[in-house]
Amino acid sequence: MPVNLKGRSLLTLKDFTPDEIRYLLNLAADLKAKKRAGIKGDLLEGKNIVLLFEKTSTRTRCAFEVAAFDEGANVTFLSNSQMGKKESLEDTAKVLGRFYDGIEFRGFKQETVELLAKHAGVPVWNGLTDLYHPTQVLADCLTIMEHVAKPLNKVKLVYVGDARNNMGNSLMIISAKLGMHFVGIAPKSLFPEEGLVKEMKKLAKTTGAKIEFSEDIASVKGADAIYTDVWVSMGEEDQFEERIKLLTPYRVTMDMMKKTGNPDCIFLHCLPSFHDLETSVGREIYEKYGVAEQEVTDEVFRCERSKVFDEAENRMHTIKAVMVATAGR
Ligand code: CP
Ligand code: NVA
Repeated sequence: MPVNLKGRSLLTLKDFTPDEIRYLLNLAADLKAKKRAGIKGDLLEGKNIVLLFEKTSTRTRCAFEVAAFDEGANVTFLSNSQMGKKESLEDTAKVLGRFYDGIEFRGFKQETVELLAKHAGVPVWNGLTDLYHPTQVLADCLTIMEHVAKPLNKVKLVYVGDARNNMGNSLMIISAKLGMHFVGIAPKSLFPEEGLVKEMKKLAKTTGAKIEFSEDIASVKGADAIYTDVWVSMGEEDQFEERIKLLTPYRVTMDMMKKTGNPDCIFLHCLPSFHDLETSVGREIYEKYGVAEQEVTDEVFRCERSKVFDEAENRMHTIKAVMVATAGR
């Protein structure tokens, strides 16, 4: 069956079939090649896109803006609207749906992005909520396709750290969809919500995926990619002390990379990352708790197997694919 995503929202990849996800990844690769060839696009010509941000961002905002501009769309960035304060989500969605051809939302609650999609009448894209970060994991899979010499359904992806955050959840979901071997390594208290794990394990049976969790870092053995994320996500800043205690043994080090036994294993991170003391938050944590490198050492972050900046670039190409596929001409 040909894939047609026109008019669809991207709230979580749970709502997309494996074929639809593969379609988005292939489209992103094509759009990337087109940009590299210097071809100006017009697939979003005459479209207007609004970007709603409750939480901060560098990559996601810029990726949406550049992707839109590349294909001829106009963009409004909105971080101080009436939404939820003087105007309900429902009314805001109805208003924005009259002006715009697509709405991106980054914020706290998954219900917010779902309500916007319910009432806007145009595609709504989840640019990160507490629960999911679907556009990020599309970029992650494109990066794996580019740097791991295996089809995705032969890849072992190991996520180490806070396995119950938006990244842990979303990487598990896309792995289950695409038949990957996903291993989440974390202390048990940071394993994802049981219902979601059950759902993904059930799905895995139909796609050939394998979904596993372990507390033991020896489970990195055979990994093709090691992935980590910050120990404390946006909105959880009061959790630093507890997380440092829980996650210090799970920091990605060169020793952990060696434990994979795979000299070609790549390192991935959605970014931003606390790998050195070049940030005010990083320095604050260092002064308070004496931790200079948090989820990954500077050595791994900067090593030749670290593909984090290719991954960051791929945010733009994959977000472009999402917008073109769902709201393009
Ligand atoms: N990875 C990611 O979403 O980055 P930003 O927070 O900078 O958008
Ligand atoms: N888990 C992180 C991801 C940032 C891109 C957060 O939510 O802050």
